[in-house]
Amino acid sequence: MDKESVRIPAHVGIIMDGNGRWAELKGKKRSFGHRAGTANVERIAEHAFNVGVKALSLFAFSSENWARPKEEVDALMKLLERYLKKFADKVNKNGIKLTVMGDTTVLSDHLKTIIAETEKATAGNAKGTLNIGINYGGRQEIVKAAKEIKDCGEEFSVENFSKHLYTFNLGEPDLIIRTGGELRLSNFMLFQSAYSELYFTDVLWPDFDEKEFDRAIESFSSRKRRYGAVR
Ligand code: IPE
Ligand code: IPE
Ligand code: MG
Repeated sequence: MDKESVRIPAHVGIIMDGNGRWAELKGKKRSFGHRAGTANVERIAEHAFNVGVKALSLFAFSSENWARPKEEVDALMKLLERYLKKFADKVNKNGIKLTVMGDTTVLSDHLKTIIAETEKATAGNAKGTLNIGINYGGRQEIVKAAKEIKDCGEEFSVENFSKHLYTFNLGEPDLIIRTGGELRLSNFMLFQSAYSELYFTDVLWPDFDEKEFDRAIESFSSRKRRYGAVR
């Protein structure tokens, strides 16, 4: 990718889908795919910040993913416990902040502690943000914002809603990528995605490498964003 001629989106969201199918295609258990998918987070985060992305929001676990078999949910939670600190150490070295969005109140005490520690350790970093969605749901986030607006006695406006979303400091994603072939948002950033450019690929998340990421950036770069106007 020629960084000079390509427009780099400031904020990229990724719906990291396809871990289970990736593993099943190899005759392995779904958790094998989740491990590979987790390793891929490191590769793609590093690359994204290298090419100039300022904020990367990754959908790791949705508020609906609790409906999966307990064994799979447990495996996913274990992976988060094991890798969050590792990601934080890595991005910390590069001046990147790590944040978590979602209803973290129901997570295990262990995971909550890890989240609090990693957020605290990287809070002073200003070069970029790696924002991870854990027990995140776009509808739940909108309802949460509405409740907060009501409790504060504020006006119900688009601006005030934006202020009460997890992404208040990050703004809206310019580009949302979904791997794994499904053509839907599955409750990801419903409010923020109003004018996001969407990019869907059949590539399964563990196979989504730097080249695939660049392809998404190039597609974004070629688009005309009109926001309802005539340009
Ligand atoms: C995405 O991969 C990761 C999570 C939702 C946690 P999936 O586990 O949904 O993989 P597929 O879609 O079944 O292949
Ligand atoms: C979306 O993937 C959630 C994450 C990537 C974390 P799902 O696999 O849960 O989405 P559906 O069930 O296919 O809509
Ligand atoms: Mg899936």
